[in-house]
Amino acid sequence: MKIFQQMESEVRSYSRAFPALFARAKGASLYDAQGREYIDFLSGAGTVNYGHNNEAMKAALIAYLQADGVVHSLDMATEAKRNFLEKFSAVILKPRGLDYKIQFSGPTGANAVEAALKLARKAKGRANVIAFTNGFHGLSSGALSVTSNAFYRHEAFTNRLNVSFMPYDGYLGEAVNTADYLRRFIEDTGSGVDLPAAMILETVQADGGINVATVPWLRQVAHICRESDILLIVDDIQAGNGRTGTFFSFERAEIQPDIVAVSKSLSGIGLPLSIVLMRPELDQWLPGEHTGTFRGNNLALVTAAQALSHWETDEFSKAIRSKGELLGKRLSEIQARHPEIDAEVRGIGLIWGLEIPNPELSGAISREAFDRGVILERCGAQENVLKFLPPLIISDELLEDGLERVEQSIQAVVR
Ligand SMILES: Cc1ncc(COP(=O)(O)O)c(C=O)c1O
Repeated sequence: MKIFQQMESEVRSYSRAFPALFARAKGASLYDAQGREYIDFLSGAGTVNYGHNNEAMKAALIAYLQADGVVHSLDMATEAKRNFLEKFSAVILKPRGLDYKIQFSGPTGANAVEAALKLARKAKGRANVIAFTNGFHGLSSGALSVTSNAFYRHEAFTNRLNVSFMPYDGYLGEAVNTADYLRRFIEDTGSGVDLPAAMILETVQADGGINVATVPWLRQVAHICRESDILLIVDDIQAGNGRTGTFFSFERAEIQPDIVAVSKSLSGIGLPLSIVLMRPELDQWLPGEHTGTFRGNNLALVTAAQALSHWETDEFSKAIRSKGELLGKRLSEIQARHPEIDAEVRGIGLIWGLEIPNPELSGAISREAFDRGVILERCGAQENVLKFLPPLIISDELLEDGLERVEQSIQAVVR
């Protein structure tokens, strides 16, 4: 591990939290160079929802390379992109009655967020954007400006202008409906908040601590946006691709955002790929106005098209919900059996959090879990929420095994 300390920048982070030399990965497990198995409750922060090295995606990728399929093509038309577009339309958009055009942004989630913000501002001719407390949207300049966590927002990074933060659902306690608060700030010309081009939100805040917005809140926010001519951007980068039980996380609220950012598990196998979906009339880009070298990576498009097969029937969705119920139930049992950690359980689908008021304790549990072969990240502004994000294909047995090890870790730490 010395080479990483010697050569890799201090900015590295996951290799500190999970200090093993990983060599192989399959399904919901990672293996280190000595062959030790780690149950993956992190899924590349939502990037390998379909598990590591899915056989069908791997086969499609290898066949494409063997046939000398085009790897890089800027944004020229390729068969790989055509196949993806056709399948995305047939399997995802049409069955959900969604009419979106698709922009291939640069490969990261932050690239998609940058494009979404830029497009919204251009389409509305307004500078301001509303973002929400505990939101995380990436760390390039524009994405950082709508990301709330002070840890990332060093004064020296500048460019945090033209963004107003508003309280997310539940931020002011259960008694306050923050959507009413939001409405007041938008409607009152004395509020000091400029009419925004857009609001950007995650329907389930992931890095911000697993905060699940309620359906009424999401509907109310969507309604405020529609009434006040504000675009609604849903950042579905971590909560999308099935994480909450449906392909898009906003399906449960039956809302149709104007713009959607999708990334992470879109390629299915962990290759970088991001898209921005927009209502057709918002597609006001001039050709090449927002361009970049690595957009619509063909290898990722090949595996993405394959990954979409998961959504051809309801089976995958049903399985996610049933595993989600199991995960939520087990976490509640752990919470009940360990009042000493004073935990709160939150989640939906296969994205759950165990909030522990004491961040040192959550850190100790995460470290102990790693020693016991479970990769369990922490999130939230205080890093005091244990984040349960297993691959969606995890077996019930492995899920239970991992959770048992987490409970043993809690016991070991509080002993
Ligand atoms: C909701 C959300 N938006 C945007 C991003 C940024 O994506 P990337 O790290 O690929 O730039 C993330 C990353 O964790 C995310 O969770």
